[in-house]
Amino acid sequence: MSGPQLVELAPSILSSDFAHLAAQIHAAAEGGASVIHVDVMDGHFVPNITIGPPVVRSLRGTTNLPLDCHLMIENPDQYIPDFAEAGANWISVHQEACIHLNRTLHLIRSHNLLAGVVINPATPVETLSEVLDIVDFVLVMSVNPGFGGQKFIPGVVHKIRKLAELREQRRLNYRIEVDGGIALDTVSEVVRAGAEILVAGNAVFGKGDPKTNAQKLLRAATEATLQKV
Ligand code: DX5
Ligand code: ZN
Repeated sequence: MSGPQLVELAPSILSSDFAHLAAQIHAAAEGGASVIHVDVMDGHFVPNITIGPPVVRSLRGTTNLPLDCHLMIENPDQYIPDFAEAGANWISVHQEACIHLNRTLHLIRSHNLLAGVVINPATPVETLSEVLDIVDFVLVMSVNPGFGGQKFIPGVVHKIRKLAELREQRRLNYRIEVDGGIALDTVSEVVRAGAEILVAGNAVFGKGDPKTNAQKLLRAATEATLQKV
């Protein structure tokens, strides 16, 4: 492996108290969260509806942390400019939702944003072979997307390992993000496999203080990083 790994925590606001969103985000940031994960669902690509550009715009007014917009929607090309304009910093799209994935990733980059591609638990890493050189990050889903608070699927961990190997072999620079069921009992395994950006919704905002929850998760992640070397 190349150099020490920097692990970042990206709390998913999906599990937060939307009536106190700003306070919840600030608490998580005080606990060390460095990216805010925004789950956008359209009721078509996934069986749930959440939020869109207006909420991203409000978030932009309340935090300087990068806003990581995970688009679980059909026709993402139609909405990428709106998310960019609202203040998104990172945008990821699902491989399964994009017929013209290369075009969509270039569209994200054309707005000077970081471009990510996401794969569902049933989608192999091999499907990304032709886009790994044009993405800034790859997001590995460790639950089937649609809802917070689901159980981690351990069978996806080999995909994180594979992405880390491919990056080394092909001398690429993308970062590896993981999303779904990340909590104190799963964080070490994904970090040891090579995950560098950890999305956590329920484990940060589900119960207790988001600041303490974030601190605990980051501490466990850092310990796992040390075990890796
Ligand atoms: C699932 C979303 C996730 C989810 C994570 O569709 O993409 O970001 O909110 O929540 P937890 O950490 O509760 O699994
Ligand atoms: Zn997500």
